[in-house]
Amino acid sequence: MAETARLQAGDQIVELPVVVGSEGEKALDIAKLRAETGYIALDPGYGNTGSCQSDITFIDGDAGILRYRGYAIEDLAEYSRFIEVAYLLIWGELPNAEQLDEFSALLTKHQMLREELKQHFSLFPPNSPPMAVLSSVLNALSCYYPELLEIQDEETFTEAAARIMSKVRTIAAYSHRQQLGHHIEYPHPRKRYAENFLHMMFSQPYNEFDADPALVDALDLIFLLHADHEQNCSTSTVRMVGSSEANLFASVAAGVSALWGPLHGGANVAVVNMLETIRAENVSVGDYVAQVKDKKAGIRLMGFGHRVYKNFDPRAKIIKKSCEKVLAKLHINDPLLDIAKELEAVALEDEYFIQRKLYPNVDFYSGVILRALGIPKEMFTVIFAIGRMPGWIAHWYEESKATKISRPRQIYTGSVQRTYQPLAERP
Ligand code: CMC
Repeated sequence: MAETARLQAGDQIVELPVVVGSEGEKALDIAKLRAETGYIALDPGYGNTGSCQSDITFIDGDAGILRYRGYAIEDLAEYSRFIEVAYLLIWGELPNAEQLDEFSALLTKHQMLREELKQHFSLFPPNSPPMAVLSSVLNALSCYYPELLEIQDEETFTEAAARIMSKVRTIAAYSHRQQLGHHIEYPHPRKRYAENFLHMMFSQPYNEFDADPALVDALDLIFLLHADHEQNCSTSTVRMVGSSEANLFASVAAGVSALWGPLHGGANVAVVNMLETIRAENVSVGDYVAQVKDKKAGIRLMGFGHRVYKNFDPRAKIIKKSCEKVLAKLHINDPLLDIAKELEAVALEDEYFIQRKLYPNVDFYSGVILRALGIPKEMFTVIFAIGRMPGWIAHWYEESKATKISRPRQIYTGSVQRTYQPLAERP
């Protein structure tokens, strides 16, 4: 017999069906709770709420496990490239050689932006935040592809997905060039995904950027490690927007906005800001950690802690290794890396962090690698967004098969009904 849970609410007892996931995770299905008892579930921040059932990504935060479509992140990081993993996330299976070639060719075909769309970039004021530009221009893509606004079949979905996957990198690089007042560099027809992005960021008409393969690999790895992370803030946003049947362009543009904040994707910038402050103000790591623990200063140790991981974030371990490798290979001696390592060592031994199960997350070391790549700080969260795109697309598609619009309820805590006072009678 299927497992149920018994809940007493007021004087009523209800049997709630238990839903079990493929890794044995359990949930109480409360879909009928309100209809049967008049109660709703209240869970600000959704720490205990499953918003959907999903086949895409599995996380066991206590054990520090992350798998995309059943494959361990460690294996994917070791043996795959970002584009292969994007295919896996979006279509559910690792591609064979032919499928991968086809997908790569589709990305190459769609990497340009329409010339009219290019003009949008010059209309943003200088120093516009690239996340604002990225979100706006992704949304603007919906004006150029009316035939992709309603996804009727897998073919239309593939077209829309490939366009977004490819153009996001072009838009991101253009937003950077525009900030500098530089010309826009077209994508290169033969460069691969990450290398092409670096080309569009840094090539000049008189000097084609020749990226060191170690840097290209490191960037590809960063994209891959960010590619999905189940129902985080931005992915839930994409799913929520998509649940109203809003198109894929509009939905991923909303994902970019959600990602922007420092508690989510913006943390990679916040980490580097923190490391720079520690260095510039010559604060000792011990004093900085003491300030964080004291809480009066209202500062957190950025790049530490995670809603789901109460153990090492497996992505952080991989990024730390890659960071050390890249910096050693390029003979870069970045004092921020030394500060980051010292902070990590101090925090991991400290009772405050141990008790709260706060470990380094994916953002703790990624900023240091991005600095080594010559990527300016304001572009760090944009890089996260490029990496997260296949995850958003996969979740949007999965959500498009669901039948209900997302519409949470609330417990109202404002005034009870009041008598209206005309303006002249108000005190
Ligand atoms: N530094 C110091 N204290 C912390 C930190 C931190 N980074 N993170 C959590 N805490 C403390 C918090 O003050 C609270 O303490 P107390 O119990 O005394 O009130 C306790 O730990 C629980 O914190 P919380 O805010 O309830 O935890 P949460 O699950 O709501 O927040 C988080 C998760 C990621 C927002 C948070 O850990 C944080 O702000 N970290 C720093 C920002 C960061 O690195 N974000 C990137 C997350 S990974 C990439 C991504 O998914 O976007």
